[in-house]
Amino acid sequence: MDYMTTAEIREAYLRYFEEKGNKRMPSSSLIPDDPSLLLTSAGMVQFKPYFLQQKQLEEPYVGTTTVQKCVRTNDIDIIGTTGRHLSFFEMLGNFSFGKYFKREMCSMALDFSVNVLGLPIEKLHFTVFENDDETIGIWKDLGIEDSHISRLGEDDNFWRAGPTGPCGPCSELYYDQGPDFGCGSPDCAPGCDCDRYLEYWNCVFTQFDGQEDGTLEELPKKNIDTGMGLERIAAIMQGVQSNYETDVLRSLIAVGERLAGVTYGKDSATDLSLRIMADHSRAVTFMIADGILPSNEGRGYVLRRLLRRAIMKAHLIGVDGPFLNEYVDEIVRLMGDVYPEIVENRELERKLILAEEERFGATLRQGKTYLESELSKLEGKTLSGKTAFTLHDTYGFPVEITAEIAGEQGIDIDMDAFDAAMADQRERARSAGAKDAEAAWSTYGGIYADILNEVGPTSFVGYDNTESSSRILAIVKQGDRVDSASAGEEVEIVLDITPFYAEMGGEVGDTGQIVNGDVKARVGDTTTPESGLYIHACKIEGGTLSVGDNVIAAVDVDRRRAIERNHTGTHILHAALRKVLGDHVKQAGSYVGPDRLRFDFTHFEALTPEQIREVESVANDKIMQGIPTSTYETTLDEARAKGVTALFGEKYGEKVRVVEAGEFSQELCGGCHVNNTAEIGFMKVTGESSVGANLRRIEAVTSFGALAYVNKIEDELKETAAELKVPMFDVSERTAANLKAFKEIQQAAKRAKETVSDDGITALLDQAVEAPAGYPLIIAKAPALESGGQRHLWDVMRSRMSEPGAIVVAGEHDGKVVLMAAGTDEAVAKGFDANALIKAMGPAIGGGGGGKPTMAQAGGKNAAGIDDALEIARNMLL
Ligand code: SER
Repeated sequence: MDYMTTAEIREAYLRYFEEKGNKRMPSSSLIPDDPSLLLTSAGMVQFKPYFLQQKQLEEPYVGTTTVQKCVRTNDIDIIGTTGRHLSFFEMLGNFSFGKYFKREMCSMALDFSVNVLGLPIEKLHFTVFENDDETIGIWKDLGIEDSHISRLGEDDNFWRAGPTGPCGPCSELYYDQGPDFGCGSPDCAPGCDCDRYLEYWNCVFTQFDGQEDGTLEELPKKNIDTGMGLERIAAIMQGVQSNYETDVLRSLIAVGERLAGVTYGKDSATDLSLRIMADHSRAVTFMIADGILPSNEGRGYVLRRLLRRAIMKAHLIGVDGPFLNEYVDEIVRLMGDVYPEIVENRELERKLILAEEERFGATLRQGKTYLESELSKLEGKTLSGKTAFTLHDTYGFPVEITAEIAGEQGIDIDMDAFDAAMADQRERARSAGAKDAEAAWSTYGGIYADILNEVGPTSFVGYDNTESSSRILAIVKQGDRVDSASAGEEVEIVLDITPFYAEMGGEVGDTGQIVNGDVKARVGDTTTPESGLYIHACKIEGGTLSVGDNVIAAVDVDRRRAIERNHTGTHILHAALRKVLGDHVKQAGSYVGPDRLRFDFTHFEALTPEQIREVESVANDKIMQGIPTSTYETTLDEARAKGVTALFGEKYGEKVRVVEAGEFSQELCGGCHVNNTAEIGFMKVTGESSVGANLRRIEAVTSFGALAYVNKIEDELKETAAELKVPMFDVSERTAANLKAFKEIQQAAKRAKETVSDDGITALLDQAVEAPAGYPLIIAKAPALESGGQRHLWDVMRSRMSEPGAIVVAGEHDGKVVLMAAGTDEAVAKGFDANALIKAMGPAIGGGGGGKPTMAQAGGKNAAGIDDALEIARNMLL
């Protein structure tokens, strides 16, 4: 057999099965379509609906063939310790849905192994499910000797995706690496845990449908699902002992060697770090490219764990500080031609990884602090397994790091207790995983899948029309099929042809009506619960609609036009953001409604007001240029080659629709758009905020929505201007001035309140005398009285005086002297004149003032004259 590169094997496999009539299909995303599965872990995941006959493969294909990117992390702690386990790997596969079966498959597997790969037949071994005599017979017919065929039980050779659903026996192909790799046991045979017999191909004969009661029913159509680990077969073809020594992964190991200044193959602990860094960095790069962001839950958490584990392992061999971007560059160089998404998202991969590395630096410091505090409290020489587990689980500290730091102080770790805690955790994860698989199958099926199967996909004519003559194909009421629906009923209607856009890709579903003469149904929303099947949620407003009726389906046109303006506006905004902020900006979600739009994207900090203005300015410039828009269908590969923006985390079929606004914006999109950007009129950003780590949100309005927004602002401003009695554009200046004055008054009032504390008031009241004219009179110093506090002081004093009287007080604050005289009407009637008093006292404090007989004030600067001023009052009143 000749050496083959990973790329050559991949292409040889796909070409072989393509030549045998299988359709070559792209790898699906690492985010499965199936909400109950965390990550895509096998080639068959994207074909589940085909196995269950919910989807049909078009003629003349006999099956499909793919290279599928997969992530498996159920045994994350084993990865790197063996040469076989990887978190990210590529799975070559071919799949038949009721066409070819066992005999054809075995024959092709042997032919490919021997004649294409050139594997010596004497080194090949075949395992078969214990009671599958048919397959044993087939291998024999193909010339395989008895001694090379063995039977294995349910655990090894029966493949299930879950407790129920499609399943079947499998036959596995093994390559014998020779006795040198073996355990030496006389029982050593395919299936043994040692490295002698390497399983490289699993062929599953998916012929049963597992029932709830555990019995197996024969499926009407029998399927094939095979999976060949690309890295494993590459190791065989390249004559190396582990996956890590194959061409692609060895190049990644070399990145680590360079970074750490070490050589692979010299020391097992160093090798472990190098393997984990190579493997995890690849998983991380691909996961980000498929739209997974680091987080604390779900697949985002898997990503974060892998990242952190790589960083910790690097730390162990002396690589500190951000380094993972070196791997991203190498991965892009090695695999970018097969997986263009890692090239397209390169900037994002680099920036996200860097941000996480920096963030983790902080976590690492926290973990070290925790460990050091635990070590300082420790009595004895053994750190508990629980502490080591907490460090591992909460801080992401691998136990080796804990051991290293503890070891420096001569302290061991209770590894038995640590291992027990780890085993517990693994068990919990495993039982959760089993439930996932069970749920995975149950998400398929249901009434909409049945309808889709029966009536086929809805024909959507809404890009060019807002009205169509259609026929009612099905009516659903509260989850059940009905034949007709009458006034007042709320139902879902399926038509053969529809102009109604169904909610997809962020764009809301259309509303409108379905009419047949006098019979009318109001469509409140349109959705596609099954891909291709349009459901119109209706309320019947009059008459009866029945399956088979011919109707007119008419979209609310004004609303739709507004949605279109916002949708094209979203594309313009997206392109403007990339222009202003950089190519790391990727769409992570959007909402396009008639009144507003929302756009979530990857970016690492808040936009500055200047950046927002610039984005608005670029977007409006493109709107005003009146760029005609156009749409065309193409293949995903061609669109990518042209640099069309694919959405972050979005999955596409082979045929894609490109929406372009000249050179400025080209995006893959199935939505509804204006014909010319000028129709958008005007765009205004109304908000910018954070919606998660590394995710920002922009809210904006266009056209009439923007007009309504601007009008609202103007109305508010006008109203405020009227209140303030200033011209509209002086509002902010006046508001600032008023606020300043208000704050000063507030402060003075606060001080005055303190001045007229209970003690202060009592002290003043104690000084009351009876004026000769017959009213209570206080002439005194009020030590903290200051400008602004007079009115308040008087209000308090008059309420506390036993009878209506008068006061004359003087205070000083910050070198400013304040005089106040105030009297009740009764005191004034008896001759008290505040104005006359103040006028007379003013000169003594070097100032002046006045007021009314009931209340007058003066300010001055001469504090030394306070006593004189009060003396003047005494002379006048007593
Ligand atoms: N589904 C099987 C596996 O994952 C064969 O592709 O091994």
